[in-house]
Amino acid sequence: MAASALGLREIDAFYGDSHILQKVSFALGEGRLLGLLGRNGAGKSTCINVVVGLLPARGGTVEVFGTDITRLPPESIAARGVALVPQGRRVFKSLTVRENLLVAARPPGAGSRHAPWTAETVFGMFPRLAERRHQIAAHLSGGEQQMLAIGRALMANPRVLLMDEPSEGLAPQIVADVMATVRTLKESGLSIVLVEQNPRLVLDIADDIVILNSGRVAVVTTPAGLAREGIDLTQHLGVY
Ligand SMILES: Nc1ncnc2c1ncn2[C@@H]1O[C@H](COP(=O)(O)OP(=O)(O)O)[C@@H](O)[C@H]1O
Ligand SMILES: [Mg+2]
Repeated sequence: MAASALGLREIDAFYGDSHILQKVSFALGEGRLLGLLGRNGAGKSTCINVVVGLLPARGGTVEVFGTDITRLPPESIAARGVALVPQGRRVFKSLTVRENLLVAARPPGAGSRHAPWTAETVFGMFPRLAERRHQIAAHLSGGEQQMLAIGRALMANPRVLLMDEPSEGLAPQIVADVMATVRTLKESGLSIVLVEQNPRLVLDIADDIVILNSGRVAVVTTPAGLAREGIDLTQHLGVY
């Protein structure tokens, strides 16, 4: 069987004495999009932090294309083709749009098939950013900052893209633009984990669905499976 693009196996993670992730396991197939759902505080961002090496797991393993990356520092994990669009965007506010992209650039690693991303190809994808390339990021709208955060992740030429609530705090039309971008990236062959609180945003784009509840995997299914298995989303996700 082909190795997964990303696999978490029995991950335990703590903040201090708080046991946050409890034996979390799931796998992202190559070229697939996994919707990681769960209410606020369920542990979604903690999973992402473990994958990118910001929070060391106390137990379990993380593999990227069959290579164990569990004990690697963030820089080495990035070099293996894992990039993050962080929750809250986190662009460098005092740098220009173009500078934000250039400081995130990293050559493609082994196994990368896509033509390397450059500031110009990112601008081709996001014409709004091209128009604002010399403005500082602090002057961008929330939607433009989200596009920039996605562009920064692409500049690292990832094979696995982790997107942590990219729709958070954006107007519906901008959310639709962001989701269209996610779809384009998926069609380019990227393997994607899309973290969301709102299942409606992921059901028509995800191949696989994982629902976290209080730091545990509560459901592993597909969008069709959610309906077929009669899974009560309100129970797992609250009101949405
Ligand atoms: N830096 C931190 N220190 C201590 N506890 C944290 C920290 N970050 C998150 N938590 C706690 O870990 C749990 C999971 O948080 P998080 O992974 O951010 O949830 P989600 O992304 O699903 O909203 C929550 O109970 C949260 O309060
Ligand atoms: Mg979060």
